[in-house]
Amino acid sequence: MRRLDGRVALVTGAASGIGRATAEVLAAEGAWVVATDIDVAGGEETHGRIVAAGGHARFLAHDVTDEDRWADVVAETMAAHGRLDILVNNAGIGIGVALTEMTLADWNRQLAVNLTGTFLGCKHGVPAMRAGGRGGSIINVSSVAGLEGAAGLAGYCATKGGVRLLTKALAKECAMAKDGIRVNSVHPGIIDTPIWAKIDQGGLDAVAETFAARPGANALAPDLIAAAGAPLGFAGQPEDIARGIAFLASDESRYMTGAELVIDGGWTA
Ligand SMILES: NC(=O)c1ccc[n+]([C@@H]2O[C@H](COP(=O)([O-])OP(=O)(O)OC[C@H]3O[C@@H](n4cnc5c(N)ncnc54)[C@H](O)[C@@H]3O)[C@@H](O)[C@H]2O)c1
Repeated sequence: MRRLDGRVALVTGAASGIGRATAEVLAAEGAWVVATDIDVAGGEETHGRIVAAGGHARFLAHDVTDEDRWADVVAETMAAHGRLDILVNNAGIGIGVALTEMTLADWNRQLAVNLTGTFLGCKHGVPAMRAGGRGGSIINVSSVAGLEGAAGLAGYCATKGGVRLLTKALAKECAMAKDGIRVNSVHPGIIDTPIWAKIDQGGLDAVAETFAARPGANALAPDLIAAAGAPLGFAGQPEDIARGIAFLASDESRYMTGAELVIDGGWTA
């Protein structure tokens, strides 16, 4: 008996990085995984990897900022499986720019994906879990940048701090409702995923200084940042976060709700 046998999990941002690793680990633990993303090619690849490994999954194209699509994705999941046990709100973007240089469009885009996307997932996921009648586990992917500030990432920090407290407030709402739904946040440190290549290197002097990057080096290379700031001295791998998420998804964490699971190589210690 694997830890998540018989469970149905929905993972957003599952085409890459932490989301892909989470979808794979949850499937390896026995869950039926609904993997979603705006990146259709990457999402199909995640689906293929899970099936090739003997797991069960489907991929659905899904923009987490679109409330109508959230309703469809949850409805399709319920129609296919009749239940939703695990929801991982993982999709996220990082926009690196000094606050005074940040456009309102960039601020709004980051809020829409990271914070509003998480809100919409919770809003549509909780009723589905309640309808299943056996509780559930929601895991919201925040960041160490939701625990402390980072120069050049003010907008990102604002969204991830918001995810942290949205998580705690919903944890209390669900506990008061006695619906058996637990809600926790995960706080990765520097993890070696494609997100770092997507953050614009231009105008990021403040970020480079924060992370004490060597002159001439790519200031956003995960290993370099981790070597400078994480006591363990190396960047984490997506699987390091996925295993923490699998723990929160499983009954092994049954007494945890509203908690912060920090997986950061000691960054915030
Ligand atoms: N990599 C790190 O060091 C790190 C550290 C702390 C927190 N995080 C968080 O972990 C999560 C996953 O990041 P990652 O490092 O795996 O990045 P990634 O870029 O590898 O993956 C993010 C995924 O989210 C998807 N996505 C983006 N916008 C979307 C939208 N509107 N709707 C649906 N999907 C969308 C992307 O297509 C991509 O597949 C993010 O929330 C990120 O903020 C990452």
